[in-house]
Amino acid sequence: MVSATPRPPTRSTLNWHLRTRAKAPDALRHLLVDISRAGRDIRYAIQTSEGGLSGGSNQFGEKQLKLDVLADQLMEHYLRESGSVACFCSEEHDDIVEIDPKAPYSVVFDPLDGSSLVDVNFAIGSIFGIYKGSEIIGRTPREQVAAGYILYGPRTIFVYSTGDGVHAFLLSDIGEFILLQEHLGIGDTAKNFSPGNLSAIHDNPGYKRALDHWLEAMTLRYSGCMVADIHHILSKGQGIFSNVGGAKYPQGKLRLIFECGPFAYLIEQAGGASSDGKVSLLDTTITACGQRTPIVVGSKKEVETVVKLLGK
Ligand code: AHG
Ligand code: MN
Ligand code: MN
Repeated sequence: MVSATPRPPTRSTLNWHLRTRAKAPDALRHLLVDISRAGRDIRYAIQTSEGGLSGGSNQFGEKQLKLDVLADQLMEHYLRESGSVACFCSEEHDDIVEIDPKAPYSVVFDPLDGSSLVDVNFAIGSIFGIYKGSEIIGRTPREQVAAGYILYGPRTIFVYSTGDGVHAFLLSDIGEFILLQEHLGIGDTAKNFSPGNLSAIHDNPGYKRALDHWLEAMTLRYSGCMVADIHHILSKGQGIFSNVGGAKYPQGKLRLIFECGPFAYLIEQAGGASSDGKVSLLDTTITACGQRTPIVVGSKKEVETVVKLLGK
């Protein structure tokens, strides 16, 4: 008789990792796999569909690309199909969209981050965070039960955490995410800096001080896509990323719910730090869908130094 003992997988898939390593509850595991499927389809859309504007604008008054809209539709499709999503908040919708109030999770996402880089063929990404229950407003990013991103570069990489480290997966030719690296870690000191909203140095003296400090001994690594810039930090195990306020964007350019919140969760899970200039971004209360926040994230000691320079 053939033994019924299941063989160990020859390749560690995302589903296997979620079940046996993260020990994620089934509904959360299915939801994360569904989000990874959306990522796989978004990557295909990036490679095959035409660029250009959709003709519409999002809640921030930014012109949407056809790909912004398509990526958003793909993500919504998989969230609805999962049956596990009470509501979601996307960069491309004016407000929170309710699906099924009795479902266990709420999802926040930026379907396509770095859209301005589509035409130049730089790396772009998708970002997501998952909360338990049907409320998002009034929560803090610390309450996320999972967060992650998909990076569409020369290779497509899915990175997630459910609160037990940060793990990276590579998309195979047949559309399966295979384990690339477990427990990504961030050292306390940084060699690379990634300064967003840099024109703010003209009216934010603290940011000018931070830039002068970085230029003394550090190396610039900035692509203009937050997913790629944060992945650089997680992948190299060091670095600092910032986007702080100035005259044009008093709170910086980035949004708490679906950009800064998920990344603060991942960076702190990897042993780094996050700050809005005062407290950890994980403890900032979400008050509105489009809420912007200053962000400084990355190597712990460097975050401390920059927060001091900003506040001097
Ligand atoms: P999105 O494409 O979702 O609007 O986000 C782009 C963001 C982020 O990815 C990046 O860090 C920032 O905009 C770039 O801003 P600057 O061009 O001011 O550096
Ligand atoms: Mn974005
Ligand atoms: Mn976007």
